[in-house]
Amino acid sequence: MSQSGTVHEAVQRVLIDSDTLQSRIRELGQQISADHAGQEVTLICILKGSMLFTADLMRTLDVPVVVDFMGISSYGASTKSSGVVKIVKDLEERIEDRHVLVVEDIVDTGLTLNYLLNALTLRKPASLKVCALLEKPARRQVEVKIDYLGFTIDDHFVIGYGLDYNNHYRQLPYIGIIRPEMVSE
Ligand code: IMP
Repeated sequence: MSQSGTVHEAVQRVLIDSDTLQSRIRELGQQISADHAGQEVTLICILKGSMLFTADLMRTLDVPVVVDFMGISSYGASTKSSGVVKIVKDLEERIEDRHVLVVEDIVDTGLTLNYLLNALTLRKPASLKVCALLEKPARRQVEVKIDYLGFTIDDHFVIGYGLDYNNHYRQLPYIGIIRPEMVSE
């Protein structure tokens, strides 16, 4: 499961292994490339959770791509959304008249993405779409349209492949369910 084939001690169960992630990402890349034929796409990587996903996704695209980064406040040392969203690092480039694809790790309550899409819409992109690796529909509080979705998962707190608990475990090459005893709330 890791490079050495072992599962991290913080992981109760591997939910999506590395091969499954990569093959789904290739499918998403094909779909995104087909839908954006003839266009240059600005990928917005939402830090920090989407960094591995963005890096792998952009390598599957065969349309011209520029990438920019946005930092959003996270839950801190909690597994529940506070509902308070803050931009802690803004884009470097303007997105007016650009075809924009927001790359998000996971949509849980939807509050983060909803806030972000409203803020980005004000900047008048030519188009604004969302690619999310995971969604947890059980906990949705606001409806957000996900144009490209990797996987729908049940209501578990997951780590790995960019996703963290308290800023740890992002480096795991798979998505795993965290052991309940690792979580302090
Ligand atoms: P939302 O605003 O509740 O949709 O939360 C979105 C953000 O919360 C994601 O971008 C993640 O950073 C974080 N998040 C939500 N669920 C999980 C999880 O299961 N593991 C790790 N981070 C999560």
